[in-house]
Amino acid sequence: MDRNGNATAPFLDAGQYTADSIQDYELVYGKAFVSPGGKACADDLIQKMALAADDLVLDAGCGLGGSAFLMASKFGLRVDAIDLSENMIALAQNRLRELDCPKTIQLKQEDCLQIDAEQKYNGIYSRDVFLHIAEKQKLFSVLHRALKVTGKLLFTDYCCSPPPWDETFSTYVENRGYHLRTVADYRALIEQAGFQVIEALDRTEDFINFSEQELDRIETLTATPFVKQHLRSDWRAKIHRAREGNQRWGQFLAIKNTQ
Ligand SMILES: C[S@@+](CC[C@H](N)C(=O)[O-])C[C@H]1O[C@@H](n2cnc3c(N)ncnc32)[C@H](O)[C@@H]1O
Repeated sequence: MDRNGNATAPFLDAGQYTADSIQDYELVYGKAFVSPGGKACADDLIQKMALAADDLVLDAGCGLGGSAFLMASKFGLRVDAIDLSENMIALAQNRLRELDCPKTIQLKQEDCLQIDAEQKYNGIYSRDVFLHIAEKQKLFSVLHRALKVTGKLLFTDYCCSPPPWDETFSTYVENRGYHLRTVADYRALIEQAGFQVIEALDRTEDFINFSEQELDRIETLTATPFVKQHLRSDWRAKIHRAREGNQRWGQFLAIKNTQ
C-alpha cells in the first residue's frame, strides 16, 4: 500500500493477483473476466452506457481485458484499457492476442489515480476496481476531468452496509486492504466531484445470484481438487457475507454535465 492506503502494483501482484490466482478466478468468471457476472453482465452494462460507435472509452482497471474486448468487437468503441497490476496486464496482452483483439484497444499499465487526461473520453467504465483505492475524492475528480462534457461514468464495486460490521467481515476487509463505501457514500462522492447521478443501485441480490451460478460452475471445472476447494470456500464465504448483509454490491451511472 502507498502512504495514503491505495493498493500499489507490488501489493496487488504479490497478494490478491498473483498470476496463478488470477487464472483461477478466470476459470470461474469466464475467459478474460475477473468480476461478478462475467461476460453477460459486462455486455448489459456496456449497453447501458449507450455510447455511439467510434466513441472513446476508458476501462479503468481492465483486468484481463474481457470488457474492453467486448466494447471494441461488439460495440465498435475505441478503448483505452488500463490496469495497475503487472500480472493482469501481462495476461491481458495474451488474452487480447488469443481473442484477436481489434486494433482499437490500447492496453497499458497505469494507475487510475495518475490518469492525466482532460476532456478526452466519451465514457469511463470500471468494474470492481475502486475497492482498492483509498483516495476516492481524488479518484472521482481525476475521472471527472478525463471525461468530455456529456460523458458518462459507469462502474460497479464491492460496497458495504453502514458500520458496525460483524467481526468476520471487518477481518476480511482489513486482510484484503479494501476501502469499501456504502452505496449512499458513493452517490455523495460522485455528486461532490461534479457528476449528475443517474442511478446508484444496490445490486446485492444480483451479486448473490451471479455468485451462486459461479459456485455451481466451480464443480464443473477441470482443476486440481486443491484449487477447486480453495475456490469453493472463497465463493461460499462471499455469498455468506452478502447474505448476512455487511457486504453489498453497487452499480452507478453518472453524467458529466459541466466542466
Ligand atoms: C476485481 S479485478 C476486476 C478486473 C476487471 N475490471 C474485470 O471486470 O474483469 C480489479 C482490478 O483492479 C485493478 N486495480 C486496482 N487498483 C487499481 C488502480 N489504482 N488503477 C488501475 N487498476 C487498479 C487490479 O489490478 C485488478 O485488475
